[in-house]
Amino acid sequence: MSSVPNTFENVKAVILSAHKNSTARDKISFYNSWAKNYEQDLAVLDYRAPILATSRISSHFSGAPEAAVVLDVACGTGLMAKQMKKNGYEHFVGVDGSEAMLEMARQSGLYEDLKQCMLGEDPLPGKWAGSFDVVVIVGALSVGQVPVEVARDLCKFAKPGGYICMTTRSNRDNLQYKASLEGLLGQLEEEGLWTRVEVTEVQQWERAVSEHEDGYIPGVVYLYKKL
Ligand SMILES: C[S@@+](CC[C@H](N)C(=O)[O-])C[C@H]1O[C@@H](n2cnc3c(N)ncnc32)[C@H](O)[C@@H]1O
Repeated sequence: MSSVPNTFENVKAVILSAHKNSTARDKISFYNSWAKNYEQDLAVLDYRAPILATSRISSHFSGAPEAAVVLDVACGTGLMAKQMKKNGYEHFVGVDGSEAMLEMARQSGLYEDLKQCMLGEDPLPGKWAGSFDVVVIVGALSVGQVPVEVARDLCKFAKPGGYICMTTRSNRDNLQYKASLEGLLGQLEEEGLWTRVEVTEVQQWERAVSEHEDGYIPGVVYLYKKL
């Protein structure tokens, strides 16, 4: 990590450089190269998704948070575990495609288990099915990152009665992805696999970095309960 915070213009340039990544593997290489500066750069972007997602989970989770086991999908460097720990959660298992991001998560000392996994390509361990009190995926369901179909797995790995919390961006570049995601979330509800608890639209999600947007972009937190 650099001792001097990056400027907004530099962070924007770093993120825009990733837009040319054409494959999921390219994207993971980008995260491998970004891992050491990721948290510092996201603070410059005013990235609040972990705080927003944790607040929605905590408003509804009625069990003892210290006993809950949380699966953090696309955990990155561990920002969700850091935030949830502040709200009393203590047990975390993480998966991510980027070995360098996972190494940062490992160094946080917050995860009981961490696995490298290309979501959408590699299956998660079958023995995990139905075993988590809370499953989260924050900052990773968006165009060019984790495929929409992974939402079905998120549901599969939660315990009956467990919560599944997901976020996505609502800015122009991600609207088609968001529509597909919401289609699948609704389909899983029709299949009787989960029920929607709440959907929270947030206007000031994070600072905009694309060439055609200014200020802040909107985003959304979805919270479902497995049946
Ligand atoms: C914006 S970061 C979010 C990390 C963390 N959840 C947070 O909120 O800080 C996106 C993460 O998703 C991971 N990722 C993106 N696409 C992936 C894929 N197809 N399979 C596994 N991980 C992926 C990246 O390696 C990165 O760590």
